[in-house]
Amino acid sequence: MTGRKQIILAAYVGGVNEHTAWEHPDAGSQIAFSTFRHVAQTAERGRFDYFFLAEGLALRARDGVIFDHDIAGRPDTLSVLAALAAVTEHLGLVGTLNATFNEPYELARQIATLDHLSGGRAGWNVVTSFDAFTGANFRRGGFLPHAQRYVRAEETVATIRELWDSWAADAIVADKDAGVFLRDGQAGRFAHHGTQFDIEGRFTVPRSPQGRPVVVQAGVSPQGRDFAASTADAIFSPYSTLAEGKAFYADIKDRVARFGRNPDHVKILPSAGFVLGDTTAEAVEKARFIKEQQLSDRTIQVTFEQVWNRDLSAFDLDGPVPDIDPDPAAAPFIQGRAFIFQDRFETVRTWRELAAERGLTLRGLAHAVAREATYVGTAAEVADQLDAFVQEDGADGVVIGSHVVPSGLDEFVDKVVPLLQERGSLRTEYEGTTLRDNLGLPAPESAPALAAPARA
Ligand SMILES: Cc1cc2nc3c(=O)[nH]c(=O)nc-3n(C[C@H](O)[C@H](O)[C@H](O)COP(=O)(O)O)c2cc1C
Repeated sequence: MTGRKQIILAAYVGGVNEHTAWEHPDAGSQIAFSTFRHVAQTAERGRFDYFFLAEGLALRARDGVIFDHDIAGRPDTLSVLAALAAVTEHLGLVGTLNATFNEPYELARQIATLDHLSGGRAGWNVVTSFDAFTGANFRRGGFLPHAQRYVRAEETVATIRELWDSWAADAIVADKDAGVFLRDGQAGRFAHHGTQFDIEGRFTVPRSPQGRPVVVQAGVSPQGRDFAASTADAIFSPYSTLAEGKAFYADIKDRVARFGRNPDHVKILPSAGFVLGDTTAEAVEKARFIKEQQLSDRTIQVTFEQVWNRDLSAFDLDGPVPDIDPDPAAAPFIQGRAFIFQDRFETVRTWRELAAERGLTLRGLAHAVAREATYVGTAAEVADQLDAFVQEDGADGVVIGSHVVPSGLDEFVDKVVPLLQERGSLRTEYEGTTLRDNLGLPAPESAPALAAPARA
């Protein structure tokens, strides 16, 4: 096993989106506890590192009208993870929580509490939000511009770590007879005076089992990458092909080293889907059928409308690619939907070229550029491809989501996991007790002794 990278696996329930086959006969509730429990327990059976939830703070909308798939709802991440802590033992529990709209004190408290409840299995995926619409439900004032969201996110994470560190590891003395619980009169004392937050007081949650819960980041701009490289323990990335994955991996590990950190201490984990068949041909046919289901006329339309930022309803999906340009300056036409294209004009230019080259209609183009399940094939082929992707530094692991919730992951765990274990790329038993242990991350450098607190 020496020299062989261990594949990190996370299980993702993304809520209903354009990848979910929500009309599939096996599709269950997207918000019932039984759904989350099933996926989490299946992931734990497969010795996954963690269970992962995205965050949706708004119902997605097109020109003010809610997307029909959002009637499934978008439940609160932390409540779900807290409930899962009670029905799992080893699995990490990572939730996406927005740094743009939440206050450090409440986030620190919630995540540290989850870390206590789960015995050290909590993680936080820091996001900054795609657009102003996302947080309009509970925003106090104006929306922060992109760059400032990262300034706030950086200070949010730094402040939260100060809060987590405010209780020395040995602050509590469990000596009931002597009636002494707190050895440290400074316990929980913090003072943070920065450009984003000016707060001081006492943090209410004693140091949690991991010391510092795991911090994951998602966001791919240069600023987002630097934020991750300087701060995060792991990155949730959208780059799951080998070429894109390797470029992102090399770029991030390089940035991590430039920040004076050990590149091994930032794990890169792209999202990935899978379709299994008893033969390659069967898997390919299944994948084709699923894509057909995913690419409804509505999904095709909003996908293009989001890039063009225009109403494209006048364009026939079976006609040519619109010859008008995107309108980035207009108010967002599609709101609250993930968006990862850095340059609309460049994206449209490449798509036009592709359509011209292959003689594609708008619908044909949608099929050509849609993200397909990353792994399609027999269990042995999928195990081979996934292992090669990680061993060749496309990533350190993957965040696996199934298009059928909740039972889709079963097949992966029953068929692919044993093959990965056989070749020594995946644990057969959990070795440690915390999420940090699962991920092979070091204990946090800063586990302060009693002398620490900074008083303003
Ligand atoms: C893979 C990925 C997953 C994301 N997941 C969420 C999410 O669940 N909720 C959310 O509000 N924002 C999410 N975001 C948005 C990012 O946090 C970020 O705000 C956005 O990508 C803009 O930053 P960027 O320009 O650095 O990419 C995600 C971004 C990426 C790339």
